Order: sequence, then C-alpha cells, then structure tokens
Amino acid sequence: MISHENGLFHLQGEDFSYLFRVMPTGQLEHLHFGARVSAEDAEALACKPHLGWGGSVLYSEGVCLDVLPLEWSGSGRGDYRETPLELNCAATDFTYESHTVMEGEAEMVSGLPQARGCSQTLCVNMTHPGGIRLRLYYCVFGGVLTRRAVLCNNSSESLWLTKLMSFSVDLPGSYEMTTFDGGWIAEMRRSKVAVGAGRVVHESTTGFSSFLHQPGFLLSQPGAGEDHGQVYGFNLVYSGSHYASAQRSLQGLTRVMQGISPDNFCRELAPGEAFEAPEAVLCWSGKGFGGVSEKLHRFVNSHIVPKYWQYRQRPVLYNDWEGCMFDFNENRLIDLAKRAGKLGCELFVLDDGWFGKRNNDLAGLGDYTVNPKKLPGGLKRLADRVNALGMQFGLWFEPEAVNPDSELYRAHPDWALTDGLSPVYGRNELLLDLTKPEVRDYIVENVSRVLDSANITYVKWDMNRHSIALGARAYDYILGLYDVLRRIFGCREHILLESCASGGNRFDLGMLCFSPQIWCSDDTDPIERLTIQDGLSYLYPQSVMGAHVSAAPHAQTLRATPLTTRGNVSFFGVLGYELDLKHLVSVEEKQIGSQIRFYKTYRELFQFGTFRRIEGEDAVCWQVSGEGIHIAGLFHRLVSAAPGYQRLRLRGLRHDRRYVLKSREQSLRVGQFGALVKHVAPVSLDPNGIVLRTADRHYTMPDGTQELTATGSALESGVMLSPRFMGTGFDPKGRNQGDFGSNVYVVREIFQG
Ligand code: DGJ
Repeated sequence: MISHENGLFHLQGEDFSYLFRVMPTGQLEHLHFGARVSAEDAEALACKPHLGWGGSVLYSEGVCLDVLPLEWSGSGRGDYRETPLELNCAATDFTYESHTVMEGEAEMVSGLPQARGCSQTLCVNMTHPGGIRLRLYYCVFGGVLTRRAVLCNNSSESLWLTKLMSFSVDLPGSYEMTTFDGGWIAEMRRSKVAVGAGRVVHESTTGFSSFLHQPGFLLSQPGAGEDHGQVYGFNLVYSGSHYASAQRSLQGLTRVMQGISPDNFCRELAPGEAFEAPEAVLCWSGKGFGGVSEKLHRFVNSHIVPKYWQYRQRPVLYNDWEGCMFDFNENRLIDLAKRAGKLGCELFVLDDGWFGKRNNDLAGLGDYTVNPKKLPGGLKRLADRVNALGMQFGLWFEPEAVNPDSELYRAHPDWALTDGLSPVYGRNELLLDLTKPEVRDYIVENVSRVLDSANITYVKWDMNRHSIALGARAYDYILGLYDVLRRIFGCREHILLESCASGGNRFDLGMLCFSPQIWCSDDTDPIERLTIQDGLSYLYPQSVMGAHVSAAPHAQTLRATPLTTRGNVSFFGVLGYELDLKHLVSVEEKQIGSQIRFYKTYRELFQFGTFRRIEGEDAVCWQVSGEGIHIAGLFHRLVSAAPGYQRLRLRGLRHDRRYVLKSREQSLRVGQFGALVKHVAPVSLDPNGIVLRTADRHYTMPDGTQELTATGSALESGVMLSPRFMGTGFDPKGRNQGDFGSNVYVVREIFQG
C-alpha cells in the first residue's frame, strides 16, 4: 500500500515500511526502510543533524545535504557523496515537483523487462533547472520493493548522460557487503567486506551481468546470520553490465546505489528524449540472510518468471551434451532417449551440434540448416520419435553468436560485432549486432521457423561469448536481445526456455523474465555445486536453477563422487541428467530410476518449497519446506577418521508438534570399499578380481537408514544422527559413505486426531 500526506510518503509491504518525505528545499529525505512503522513515526525516525557545519557547503540556511539521508542526490550542491546521475559533466539538483499513484505497474517504454503484478506504483516527478525531469518509480510486491529512474530531456538542447543509477538511498548504520563473484565453472563464490569510508564498488563491465560479478548482492548488519539480524538484498532486472556501490559517511549513513555500469556509458539525449534505467529490487528482512532469500525467492517465482511458468512444475530432463558433445546421430540419440525414458526422464534435450557444419566449436554458429548426416529425418522425425517414447523434445540454440566459418558470416560479415577493430574471439565466435533490426529479424525468423518445424517444447538458449565489443551501445544490445526473446517466446509461452551462458554468465532477473530456468554452471561436480547452488540460493529460488547429474570421475575436477550425492545435490534445483546413459551399469540405472521417482514425489517441495540454508554442523545443510513436510539434505566434503557426533538441525517447524524423520534409502557400491570389502561383505573377495567387479555392477549394499520421531522443538535444537563409518567396521545402522557422502531426510508432521 502506498500512502501520502503532507509531503510524507509511506510504502508498506507485508512486513516492512519505506518512508521518505519532501524537504522544505525540495529534495527527498529518506526516513526509514525496515520493520513496519507508522507514518506518525516519521519525525522520530528522522536524522537530527548537528548545527556545527564548519567547512561544509550549505544548500540553504541550516540545510547541509552532505549529512542527510537522501532518496536521490545531486552533485556540486553540498552533497559530496557519490551521485547516482551524471549529466554533461555538470552539477545537478533535482527537487520535488509532483507525484502520482497509479494502479498496477507503470509500463516501461524502452523494452526493458520488469516485475509484474504489483497493486500500485508511485511516481515522483523531480525537476531540474533548464527543463530536465527525473521520474522516480516505486512499487511494492509483498515483501519486496522495486525502484527505477527515468531521465527526460525536456530542454531545448541535447544532454550527455554518463551515469544513471536505478536507485540511490542512504541507510543509517554500518554494514557488510556480500557479493557473489567468480568465472567460468566457478560461479557464485560468496565473499563479504565491511563497508567503510572508502567506496566499495561491485561492477561488471563485460556488457553482460556476467559470472565475474553477479548483480545481486546483500548488505547486512555485522553479526547477522541465517535467521537473525537486519539484512538488505538488492538486485537488478537487467542482463547487461551493472554497477553497485556502498559507502559509509562520517555521520554513519551508508549510501547504496545500483544500476547500469557507467563504464563506457555515454548517451546523447536529444530534446524530447528519455532514458530509462532498469528496475532495481530492494528487500529488507529482520530475520537474517534466510529472511531476505525467502522473500526474494517468492518475488522471483511470483513476479519475475513468465506467468505461464509461475509455480508450474518443471520436467526432469535428459541433455545429451556431456554424454555426446558433437558426436551423435539419430540412432545414438534415440538409443539415449529410450534409456532416458525408461529411467523416468520427461524431456529429452538435443544440445549443440545439430545444424550447419557444427561438428566442433569452430564452425556453424549463425546457421540453421539441420545436418542431414546426423539427422537424416530432420528435427521433426527425431522429435516425433522422442514423443512416441513418452518424452517431450527440447533443442539447443546459440542465436546471438556467429562463427567466421559459417554461411551467415560469409554472407553478412558486417553483422558481427567488432567495433571496427580486428576481431578478438571467445570460443571461436563473435556476437551478432543485435542493435541492427535486420539481425534481430534474421534470428527471430530462423529460430521461429525451427521451433515450428517440429514439436519442440523446451529451448536451451546459450551464449558463449564472454563480452560484447559494443562500448556505449551495450545497453542497446541488451534491448535487442529482449526484443528477440519477446518476439519468439511471447507467442509460444508453453515453451520452457532455459537460458545459459557458458553456464552462469547471465544469471540475472532480466533473463528470468523470459526464461523460467537458467543453467547454473558448466561445472556439475556436486561438491563444487554445493558452493554454486548455495550462492545462488541467496538471491534465486530452486525452481530457476538447472541442476544436472553428470558422470564421475567428473570432467572438470576428476573427483569421483557417489551417484547418491550427485542426485541429492541436484534435487535442490531442477533435476536433470547429463551423461552417457549407455555406460551405466545396472546398479546405476536402478539408483537413477529411484532418484527420479523420489524427486517426482517431492518435486513441488524441491522446486517451490521454502528453501533454507542451515548453519552449524560440519556439513552443508539445505532444507525445503511445505505445509507439514520438510526435506533436509546433508552434504559432506571430506570426512575424518574419528568423526564426532553429528546433529541435524531444522528450522521453521512447529515446536509443539511431533514429526517423524526418515532418511531416504540409499545404497552403497560394493566396489567403493575396495580391499576393505571384507569389512562389509560376509565373504572375503579379491578386490581386483572379476567376482568383485561383477558384483559391483549388479549388487549394492543398503546404507544404514534412520527413523525417529521428535517434537519440532527437538528437531530445531538438533537431533543426533546415526554414526558415521569408522575403521572399526561396517555398521549396518550407520552412515557408511565416506568422502562426499550425503543423505536426504524427509520430515513429516504427525497429524493428531
Ligand atoms: C555451453 C553450455 O554451458 C553447455 O551446457 C553446452 O550447451 C555447450 N555450451 C554447447 O556448446
């Protein structure tokens, strides 16, 4: 709800208030962003500046902008903190003119995507000498607030805009900034720095949101934890280069802002033109990092992903990439599809290599002709055969890129982006200039034609070029991309679009407005995925994370992990399989079949349940919760020879209710024990002999399971888990998995009466 009285604005979310007011001088003074308060608290919440101005510059008698918490700030008028807007390299001074409150959201005119489904929008019109206007938009979405800014040139001369943030705000207090940084196969590494007097900048400059620096970030009070303390979350509905900064002033105000990166950004605004900054997301919780994540998850599921896919279960998919790479033909694919279907997969995805001369990553991007050697019956026959096996069919595209060795490049070398310099390649490719209408038309026509040529209900939209060589026009590229996506998928809403950019190089809210899921990382090693998916979970729900089980030893780490753990980690996302199914031995087939059955039973919970990261014991612990049911995953990295007691601690339970906890039945490969097999089997076998090797393919040993009942309060305090394997021998009731082992526990409330 948005209310306004006597220059005071009060935006109320489900559990927060956001308050600001018009100062007598016309600037907007920020008063509060936090727990629900009353508008009558405004005066009590306002900063009380001292009167010892000393060498400060006064805006007017008794008003020093430098010490006040502001909703927007100019430059050169006494506020020497960072400004969110830079224009013509001159001072700026925006003051309140008027405001409107409208029902629903105000449409963005540039083509940028935006969150949908708010009840009201507040637009505050700010004016600047010379006919320049700034519109500040605010929307409340349940537990989340969005803000954005539009600069309008109503003057008679061109303006040069070099920076326009989506929002800026001054929050009282000291904070730590948590960001998620990394690179290819190393996405979402979390780090935290204290925000002090020097500016902390978090920025991507590649032209994309990038896996180098994820646009979402958090500000937390020192000492805040998963379920306590004040934490703010921020993110941007945008897929291009982004910028965020935080800086604490002498007076103890922390200025935070976020928007498009000003790096290489310079736009001429002719008279009558406007520039729209992307929508930013702001979220507060008094219940720690977990509180912010829960709100952001609900926001993404309810207001960001396309309406058709909101809370719609995602299918379990099989993707042929890691199993086949470029080496496939129709028969091999059908063989894989038969195997995938038998295991329970619902969607078969043909990845890279189906078109042009695409037999490696040197050629073919830009072309759309199906390779007749690999697929003599075309995509239609393949899709029909997959459908006949009871599965949906999905297809990979990389429409933004072109290889110099392609029909397209030979016909239109000028469509590739080089900025006039000699080309530099990423994965042997250049990007197409999506700012050109004819390039966008080419992509829309070709992708649409292929999609309509067969029953294709899933698209993986890849992009493997690390950066755009577009300088100041990178914003237009991103608008071009959104235009293409809107034109292709707007009229094909039933197609499940999974965005991918060498893994997580474009994991952002802008892409999520079109694609209900994103491929998290090319790194599918489950132990590495604990970091990647854990990092993503701060900002994004499980329903948007593509999480696949791949082969072990793993292609990137050479780490051999149990299939149970590969499955258990992937359960906490959108489950898929990406390995050569032909090489599975029968015990692996059984395990995968049982994983898929288990996942389908609890799919609603895994994809849309409330997700929590549980702090504490010497393992990673994730929990998903629904009405009366919870599932916890407990993941170990390295075990020790003399393991201590281990507890499982859940959250969000009803203290006085009783629950039954059951671990998922898991099996152990006999071969895992090697020469120690004598510890676990009744007979003594040669560890290198054929008998053990054969047994390892066909038989497993049940791992110990655990079942107990306890009150919610006992489960929240932490219930003791069964013992872990020790050199003293195999314990049929214990957990005998060794390094990289994991368990999943289903916890159900016992309904009485
Ligand atoms: C990069 C993606 O991240 C992979 O999953 C795969 O689709 C390859 N591209 C195909 O070239």
